[in-house]
Amino acid sequence: MKVNRKLAAVGLIAGLVCTLAVASSFSPAREQVQYVNLKVLPKNISSKELQGIMTDDFEDGLGVTCGFCHADAKDGHGLDFASDAKPEKEIARAMMRMTLGINKKYFKIKHPALGSATLTVTCNTCHKGVAFPDGADQK
Ligand code: HEC
Ligand code: HEC
Repeated sequence: MKVNRKLAAVGLIAGLVCTLAVASSFSPAREQVQYVNLKVLPKNISSKELQGIMTDDFEDGLGVTCGFCHADAKDGHGLDFASDAKPEKEIARAMMRMTLGINKKYFKIKHPALGSATLTVTCNTCHKGVAFPDGADQK
């Protein structure tokens, strides 16, 4: 009887360890958000990387908030991040391609990626916290 109880306890702990191991090995997959409309960023980008680019490079770099590029959701709640309704989003894509191109062509960075510390030229190089670095009035 005593032995069985011990065995049961050991079994319980072993089971718990297994469950934790399985849960932690699956968590990266669960964190992987499926983005539906990426044309410049890698399709398998992690949510951490994407949020970092949107916040540090785009929001801070241009001195704007998410809604500068992202359209309002149709149901009136928040923003529809996948929508291309705002022209600023497509301009931002062109700027992303340009920025990657400058790094590759003129600074000889072989595999330039936005958000990477290896970039010589970033959004902030020109923008320095303003959306129109040429002084053009905001529309
Ligand atoms: C300067 C413009 C700009 C700003 C500001 C910006 N974004 Fe984005 N965002 C983009 C562009 C462009 C894409 C599409 C990138 C591509 O095609 O690879 C995108 C894509 C996304 C996506 C992926 C949507 C999908 O499913 O395809 C999310 C989520 C997102 N942005 C969230 C945010 C959040 C949150 C903020 C504010 C913290 C933000 N963005 C600020 C330009 C911007
Ligand atoms: C080589 C310099 C340079 C770099 C690098 C650069 N931009 Fe720009 N960007 C400009 C200039 C200049 C303007 C103003 C153009 C205008 O007046 O319409 C601008 C304007 C914009 C606008 C506003 C366009 C409009 O008419 O509404 C967006 C959005 C933008 N940039 C996004 C980005 C993003 C995102 C990055 C980084 C991926 C980036 N830019 C990198 C020079 C740059």
